[in-house]
Amino acid sequence: MRKTNVILIGLMGVGKSSIAKELADRLSFNVLDTDERIEFEQGKTINEIFAEHGEDHFRQLESRLLRDLKISNTVISTGGGMPVYNANMGYLNELGFTVYLKISPENLSGRLWVMRRKRPLLKSVENIEQLQELLSCQLRQRETYYLSADHVLDVNNKASCEIVDDLMGFI
Ligand code: S3P
Repeated sequence: MRKTNVILIGLMGVGKSSIAKELADRLSFNVLDTDERIEFEQGKTINEIFAEHGEDHFRQLESRLLRDLKISNTVISTGGGMPVYNANMGYLNELGFTVYLKISPENLSGRLWVMRRKRPLLKSVENIEQLQELLSCQLRQRETYYLSADHVLDVNNKASCEIVDDLMGFI
């Protein structure tokens, strides 16, 4: 592997955090979850940060964290919006080998429905159909950024161990 960090990007709920942990174990790398790091540094949940300070503030925290990172041998799990704001995708590509975990809104919506409470961007979603529509819209807005990753991995209908096996095959 040419780059010394592996960075997972993609829509919320695709499994970046859990896959990052499994991959880090397999590589004997450290793991960094940008959402968890922000929550720890701010002493607040992502929901609280959005509610108290707004999304722009959260995006600034994400961008600042990214620019301050001086790490190697780490698998980084990013928040779904991180690549999209403040030219962050360029920084991510410099920091490590970026992998876009690509999933369809149809496959993601069922899985994300049960985890929606932790995501402030989903607070007004009332049913799975609405969630699927929101994810389709988000994908249209974000995919240009995601597709500039070093590698695109289709994770539709794959178990996390299979995804980690795939990752081990090309990083
Ligand atoms: C967001 C994704 C979340 C979190 C925040 C915003 C997004 O992270 O950063 O709720 O804009 O897609 P996950 O991708 O880990 O859910």
